[in-house]
Amino acid sequence: MTDFFEREIERLKRKDSYRWLRAMEGPAEARMRVDGREVIVLCSSNYLGLATHHRLKAAAIEATERLGVCSAASRLIAGNNELYRTLEERLARFKGREAALVYSTGYMANLGVISAVVGEGDVIYADALSHASIVDGCRLSRATVKVFPHNDVDALEQLFKSDTGFRRRLIAVDGVYSMDGDLASLPELAKLARNYDALLMLDDAHGTGVLGERGEGTAEHFGLTGPEGVDIEIGTLGKALGSFGAYVVGSRSLREYLINRSRSFIFTCALTPPALAAAMAALDILDEEPAHRQRLWESVRHFREGLHRLGLSTEPSVTHILPVMIHDRQRTMALSDRLLELGVFCQGIRPPTVPPGTSRLRFTVTAAHTRADLDRALEAAEKAFREFALL
Ligand SMILES: Cc1ncc(COP(=O)(O)O)c(C=O)c1O
Repeated sequence: MTDFFEREIERLKRKDSYRWLRAMEGPAEARMRVDGREVIVLCSSNYLGLATHHRLKAAAIEATERLGVCSAASRLIAGNNELYRTLEERLARFKGREAALVYSTGYMANLGVISAVVGEGDVIYADALSHASIVDGCRLSRATVKVFPHNDVDALEQLFKSDTGFRRRLIAVDGVYSMDGDLASLPELAKLARNYDALLMLDDAHGTGVLGERGEGTAEHFGLTGPEGVDIEIGTLGKALGSFGAYVVGSRSLREYLINRSRSFIFTCALTPPALAAAMAALDILDEEPAHRQRLWESVRHFREGLHRLGLSTEPSVTHILPVMIHDRQRTMALSDRLLELGVFCQGIRPPTVPPGTSRLRFTVTAAHTRADLDRALEAAEKAFREFALL
């Protein structure tokens, strides 16, 4: 019976779809050892460099000393430790919303929110490039799912006009698209949601902490903070915020409803005290140390311009996520391997993570990179792309 595993693995290898784990050594910084080699990491989500910030580490150590390393139960049983209340109040204030609810991961938040908010008789409109966790949440919900072409608000409006008879309508989009680095057309989507009495759900996993004057994210970037913009917003604590976990913000009644109806919230262990305390420290840093965000955007500009000078397009990105299309999956992975040999780690991205024919190198720049790191990486990129006759 277990032959099946081996056969499937062989099939994946033949299709250039086989995945394996790289061995990472050392703290999550701009330079790490990857598969035994010291390299510049250009594919992490530690966008502000907070994963090793001394204030996050101190907060995590203090929480560990005081409360231990485990919350010892799900939140509805005995795991709702004292750090949750302050973190959720702080997150609600940060996002200018009535209430926040912390989840264990962004994946679980999307799954748990979508499947609780809509069900049979309802309809979800999901952007074609939505993250896998939105896709899986849609599947789990048993609602009718309509996928609209990426960021095509007119096509979405046509769907709204032709669809009748559904109980509730939910629009689900990413803020910053995780593989392309472009932004949701949020103002138009918010207007459409109001006009057609739909709920708008935003997954701002990659915008939180980095976009907007205060780092509130994509909604702030578009001047859409507060309840008149997005109804339900999801963000993660494990990317720019340098910790682990996720949250949902919205109305007080949404929070109460999710506590009662969201299965991925209810049936899982509470987060650990050090993760909660580190997330809290990260929110303080967002307020008090804007220099991280400024450094990130300076580095993004420098690296993006460097790629463009080489003749490499990063379309359609407008953010810190910079895709360089290679198209062919085998070539993409070979180029990623070659870059690693040259001292740069940039993971190649293939289907099913991205649509067929759009395999790419996906560079992510962080505030932790120095100019020297970025210049070294650009030199390596030039060499590798030339070797592959892509320049
Ligand atoms: C857009 C988006 N949403 C959700 C997630 C999941 O978040 P988490 O890693 O906290 O599960 C990710 C990536 O991990 C993502 O890119």
